[in-house]
Amino acid sequence: ATNRTFTMLKPDAVEKGHIGAILEKISASGFKIVAMKLTQLTKADAEEFYAIHSERPFYGDLVEYMTRGPIVAAILEKDNAVEDFRTLIGATNPEDAAEGTIRKLFATSISENAVHGSDSDDNAAIEGAFHFAGRDTF
Ligand code: CMP
Repeated sequence: ATNRTFTMLKPDAVEKGHIGAILEKISASGFKIVAMKLTQLTKADAEEFYAIHSERPFYGDLVEYMTRGPIVAAILEKDNAVEDFRTLIGATNPEDAAEGTIRKLFATSISENAVHGSDSDDNAAIEGAFHFAGRDTF
């Protein structure tokens, strides 16, 4: 069925000038952009967004990384969006990511891995609503 996922092009990808190349790959892979903006997370935003990782040793570094510069937040629509987008971005660690995936092409490391993709339909809805008002979603 057609459904939606949520993505962020993370600060490392934006810093390196990869916004255009990554959006091109997303569009070429059949995803329709239904919301999008350039924004910067506050510390409180990042702590809330990644609250599930709050007990992990990398949490502090993750919050610092995700707040250090602008990100592109977007909601994407496609058949089987959540699963297909996770296939397109590749494994969390770019060293393990398949050839041609966004993380293989553009990620820096396991911690600075260029792009976020929601891991379930429920989280896609929660994460999309965290970043976008209804009137900014098409
Ligand atoms: P993501 O899987 O999108 O969400 C959690 C993020 O934490 C992950 O991307 C990385 O950006 C970051 N991270 C940093 N270190 C690790 C690690 N050792 N394992 C998993 N994620 C990590």
